Amino acid sequence: MKLKFNPLVNVCLIASVATPGAYAWGAAGHEIVATIAQMYLYPNVLPILCSILHPPTQLDAESPDDSAQSCSLSYVATWADKFRFRMRWSGPLHYVGGKGDHPPQQCHFPGPDGWAGHDGINVLGGIRNTTGLLAEWVQAGGPEGDPVAEEALKFMIHFFGDLHMPLHLTGRDRGGNGDKVRWDGRISNIHSTWDSLIVAKAIRITPHNYTKPTADHDLEKNLRGAIYDPLIRKIVIDGIGGKWKDEVDSWLECPGQQAPEPLSMWQQTTQLILGRAWRSSDTDDEVVCPYHWATPLHAMNCEWIWPKEMDEPPYGGPSFSRNSSHPYLELDTPEYGGKITREWVVEKLFAMAGIRLAATLNYLFAAEEL
Ligand SMILES: *[C@@H]1O[C@H](CO)[C@@H](O)[C@H](O)[C@H]1NC(C)=O
Ligand SMILES: *[C@@H]1O[C@H](CO)[C@@H](O)[C@H](O)[C@H]1NC(C)=O
Ligand SMILES: *[C@@H]1O[C@H](CO)[C@@H](O)[C@H](O)[C@H]1NC(C)=O
Repeated sequence: MKLKFNPLVNVCLIASVATPGAYAWGAAGHEIVATIAQMYLYPNVLPILCSILHPPTQLDAESPDDSAQSCSLSYVATWADKFRFRMRWSGPLHYVGGKGDHPPQQCHFPGPDGWAGHDGINVLGGIRNTTGLLAEWVQAGGPEGDPVAEEALKFMIHFFGDLHMPLHLTGRDRGGNGDKVRWDGRISNIHSTWDSLIVAKAIRITPHNYTKPTADHDLEKNLRGAIYDPLIRKIVIDGIGGKWKDEVDSWLECPGQQAPEPLSMWQQTTQLILGRAWRSSDTDDEVVCPYHWATPLHAMNCEWIWPKEMDEPPYGGPSFSRNSSHPYLELDTPEYGGKITREWVVEKLFAMAGIRLAATLNYLFAAEEL
């Protein structure tokens, strides 16, 4: 079976007027992904998700409208980050890094030594695991008020965002948190530049013609009056419905199960000593394949996201010495920041994440033949 998204933007939720106040921009990326996903759910799926996230209470029964209005996937999109420090065990589930991966010089996804960290405890395993838990919930007949399903769904919505953030796919310097750069003169690091500053710019420079609500009711009813609504209109109307129209289906392709290669005697021996080597079939199947989806995104790290200059004088390298005339490498240049804008790089990452999340949720929760 192949994943599908609902080509007609069509769900049954009334947008509320909630306007986000002060919040980290990092949150914006996750909320954008969740909002796009919501637009491509089959009509019967969102009510199921809402019932998992907000088990009906006495209060809802008295004012049914409130519960509908307060159910938007974007509200829970950052839950996994907000409670990350209370759930320390969950930290490694937000990213994955090949051992020895050091873009742009060394590109391992994973390399011969596998992944850093504990087996299966990374964002690929997190997506596999939450998918499995939610499938179990469906098989069990969808028991009401199941805290395991609720947590799994909140994590899943978040992990699809993280999977499409290229810096969550390399372990170099904690995903770039340790590598300082400048963005429009401001000192930052390459991770938070991608998390926040690049997203902020994409929102800021979205053309004004996307500010007005469109006639597309199915799109508009999923928006919440957020600062990033115009960017979402741009992504959905002119990205998914426009320039990427012919490739969107291919975003959902999974290569399918390949028979594991027979092992040599030497490999069998090392397995006995070191444990079984990781295989893509540990996380991927023919329907949901986080490893396959992440592979080209990880490659972007090596191709251009980590500029070579960062590791060369005057910004790094063997005779590294920083001085005030060359403080840190500036990334908001025509070649780097300009490329991101011209090529709709973040827009496309959000679109892919949203479409894949929607398709996975449709697969789990919609009746087969929709
Ligand atoms: C999810 O991960 C936990 C902890 O590793 C494991 O006990 C559980 O069996 C996994 N569940 C599924 C459905 O993959
Ligand atoms: C907005 O303007 C851009 C050009 O700046 C155009 O390509 C796009 O189609 C317009 N979109 C809408 C929804 O008006
Ligand atoms: C700063 O570093 C650059 C590159 O290494 C060098 O060309 C320049 O002369 C240095 N300036 C000072 C004031 O040392």
